[in-house]
Amino acid sequence: MSHEATKGLPLAAGPLLLPALFAGALGLRTLEPPPPVSTTRNTYEERWLDVRLDHFSAFYNDTFPMRFYYNGEFAVNNQVNNHIVIFVGGEWAISPGWVTGGLAHEFAGYIQAGVFYTEHRYYGLTRPTNDTEVSNLRYLTVDQALADLAQFIEYIKSDEFENGLYREGKVVLVGCSYAGSMATWMRLAYPHLTDAVLSDSGPLHAQTDFVEYLEKINSVLLEQGGQTCVNSIQEAVNEIVPLLSTQTGVTTISDVFNTCSPQTTNPMDSSTFFWFGITETLAYLVQYAMPGHITDACSVLTNSSESSAMRRLANYVNAHPWSQPCIRNSYSDVVAGHTNTSFDSSDSVMRLWTYQSCVEFGWFQTTNGNLHVFANAIPLEYFHQMCQDFFSLYFNSNLTESGVARTNLLFAGLSHLPDYTISVAGGADPWAPMGPTGTHESALAPVFVVPGVSHCRAIQSTENSESTELHEVKWEVMNILSEYVTGTRMSAANGVFASLALILCAVAIAA
Ligand SMILES: *[C@@H]1O[C@H](CO)[C@@H](O)[C@H](O)[C@H]1NC(C)=O
Ligand SMILES: *[C@@H]1O[C@H](CO)[C@@H](O)[C@H](O)[C@H]1NC(C)=O
Ligand SMILES: *[C@@H]1O[C@H](CO)[C@@H](O)[C@H](O)[C@H]1NC(C)=O
Ligand SMILES: *[C@@H]1O[C@H](CO)[C@@H](O)[C@H](O)[C@H]1NC(C)=O
Ligand SMILES: *[C@@H]1O[C@H](CO)[C@@H](O)[C@H](O)[C@H]1NC(C)=O
Repeated sequence: MSHEATKGLPLAAGPLLLPALFAGALGLRTLEPPPPVSTTRNTYEERWLDVRLDHFSAFYNDTFPMRFYYNGEFAVNNQVNNHIVIFVGGEWAISPGWVTGGLAHEFAGYIQAGVFYTEHRYYGLTRPTNDTEVSNLRYLTVDQALADLAQFIEYIKSDEFENGLYREGKVVLVGCSYAGSMATWMRLAYPHLTDAVLSDSGPLHAQTDFVEYLEKINSVLLEQGGQTCVNSIQEAVNEIVPLLSTQTGVTTISDVFNTCSPQTTNPMDSSTFFWFGITETLAYLVQYAMPGHITDACSVLTNSSESSAMRRLANYVNAHPWSQPCIRNSYSDVVAGHTNTSFDSSDSVMRLWTYQSCVEFGWFQTTNGNLHVFANAIPLEYFHQMCQDFFSLYFNSNLTESGVARTNLLFAGLSHLPDYTISVAGGADPWAPMGPTGTHESALAPVFVVPGVSHCRAIQSTENSESTELHEVKWEVMNILSEYVTGTRMSAANGVFASLALILCAVAIAA
């Protein structure tokens, strides 16, 4: 094993522009959480570690370079007990903002820890293979990615890294969304390498048909936008569905919506239009909603100066950053994009995440639920077809079902939460139904459900909190993590927070 370290890289840690992030994605939710805007620090470095391509074969010892960011600003020189806080990367390219800002960085400052951000194999610049041909994707599994983290932690705690600065430190993993699941599963799989975990919005139960997702979108729109808003969407869907099956109808769709190509009556194209144009746009709104966003959207969706509900919906969708420069509505174009096996292709990340969905997790956001207004526009078969068309006929529904069952077998789903693991769920996060709620918690596996909050909000810094509850949960999370790592709450450790007086019950359960 060799270690390759490149020093100091003065990249600016700025906010990413929204449209660039969303361009071309198929939309199974694969964004890096918006990195905190770094104000002062340039204290991070980009580095690389060679890790094994296949951790589970004794005979095969090929390696590839895994990228990570490192910020050692809080570590004390000539000590070997500096702690380790790792912000775990998921299905996205990493950026330096998360080693210089956010809750993980803030917490590291209190416990004297180095801050790390690891890039998941195959995403970003961590490329184990030359391309993403199906045969080259056999090393793209969460099992391998967790083993990368195990090798990474062993390295950070060795004398090879910074002369042993972290040799006797404790390891805290922080992750959100799929990376939150990974953090939880690290404690399950490698408890000797993982001392404490914060998982924000991490789904733990793999499920092929994720019907709850759009139902939750619907209920959040109802709660935060009101009945009139949801009625207006329903009215629009009632206008759209019949149009999608006739030749004159699809011409109207193309005229009213900003579609990339003329709409056809092919059912795969109907689902594609519905997915990119309607459910994904509204899903994006809800999943990343900040206070006021849903109300603002609803003022467009219910605008009384526009008489047709379909046109009101089109006004909203056509102006949304998600649907720029136009709404993808041709299934064959989507397939063409996602079968490009270059790591640099614009659909590459979605090809990779779809691969993991097809073989490990499912989580297909179909309209098969009842409690929503999106009709039956996106059946499960749409996604099964996609797995076959993107990868090969071998990737059929049976493969997905057995992959999902395997994931739940090996990682326990929601039937067992590991200890020293804190889970946070957003009460308004459509992913929450696949993650832990209050009923799963135990003394050493606390679960906080923060009312009204969307996806991945707990990993932002304490000052970036949209509600008092969220702010208090973050402090409580840091206190508990501190207890796990140092044996004392932060308030006891440094007195700064004694005045905070958290009168927060252990679990706030959202309706
Ligand atoms: C990989 O294993 C082979 C034996 O199978 C050995 O000759 C070689 O040195 C090993 N390479 C590394 C980098 O450890
Ligand atoms: C990847 O590309 C490099 C450089 O072109 C080549 O040497 C290597 O054989 C390729 N590896 C595979 C597995 O195709
Ligand atoms: C409602 O529609 C009118 C006419 O198209 C437009 O001028 C106004 O800006 C719209 N209001 C909102 C909130 O979209
Ligand atoms: C695949 O994507 C790459 C990178 O964007 C591009 O250069 C190439 O032309 C694409 N290939 C095809 C067949 O479209
Ligand atoms: C799935 O497996 C069942 C039972 O072996 C088989 O009957 C069915 O044809 C398979 N489905 C597909 C899509 O291959």
